[in-house]
Amino acid sequence: MEKLKDKTIVVAPMKINLAKNTHIFNEHSLIQAKISVLRDENTPSSIFRKVVEEITILLASDALSHLPLEDISVTTPICKTTGSKIAGKKMVLVPIIRAGLAMEPAMKAVVPQARTGFCGVYRDPDTSKPVPYYWKMPDDIGNRSVFILDPMLATGGSMLYTIDRLKKEHHCKSIHLMSIIAAPEGVDLIQTLHPDVEMYIAQLDEGLNCDRYIVPGLGDAGDRIYGTK
Ligand code: PRP
Ligand code: URA
Repeated sequence: MEKLKDKTIVVAPMKINLAKNTHIFNEHSLIQAKISVLRDENTPSSIFRKVVEEITILLASDALSHLPLEDISVTTPICKTTGSKIAGKKMVLVPIIRAGLAMEPAMKAVVPQARTGFCGVYRDPDTSKPVPYYWKMPDDIGNRSVFILDPMLATGGSMLYTIDRLKKEHHCKSIHLMSIIAAPEGVDLIQTLHPDVEMYIAQLDEGLNCDRYIVPGLGDAGDRIYGTK
C-alpha cells in the first residue's frame, strides 16, 4: 500500500483466525471491483450510495441463500409443478444509523416482507466508544431472523452494542450481520463474544490507524454516503 500520510499506518496489525460463522468475500471479483470504487476518494456520494446498494445485493445473495424453504404449488403456462417460498420466521433488518441506512433499501428490494428496526449509535470522536441515541425495534423481533446492516466494522464497538441489546432486551436468537469493510479487530471482537452470530463481510482490511479508522478503508462511510464532509 502506498503511504500517503501518517494516518495510513496500521497500529499493531492483528492476525486473526476466521471462525466458521465468518464469511469473507475477499476473492469475489465483482465485489472487489465495486469496493475499489468505494475506496476512491474521488467517487461522488451519488455513485457511492449506488455501489453500496449493489454490494449489499451481492452479499445478500450469499447471506440469504440458506433461508429455509417450504413447498408451494405453482401453475406454469405448461403444467402444475412444485415451487418454493421462504418459510419459517420472517426477517427483521436492523440498519445502524447513519451508514447502515444505505444498505436497507437493497435488502428490502430482495426481501420486501422484511420489517425494519433502527439502532442509532455513533462513535465518540475521542474515545471511539459507541454513543447510543435511538432504538426502535418491531415488537416481535425476538422470534425473527435479524440482519444487522452497517458498511463499516472497525473496532466492533457499535456492532457489539447492537448485538448485546438485541439479545438482552429482545431475546433475539438468530442474528446475522452484513458489513462491507471490516478490520480484524472488529471481526475478532464479535466472533469471540458472539460466536453464534453469522457474519457476511465483503472485505477484510489490514487494520486500524491511530484514529481507529480502517486502513486502507474508505474513510467515514456516513460522511461519504450523505456528503456531510
Ligand atoms: C461508523 C460506522 C459504524 C461505526 C464503526 O459510524 O457506520 O457504525 O462507525 O465503527 P466501530 O466498529 O469502531 O464502532 P459513525 O460512528 O461514524 O456514525 P455515523 O454513521 O452516524 O457518522
Ligand atoms: N467508521 C467509518 O465510517 N469508517 C471507518 O474507517 C471506521 C469507522
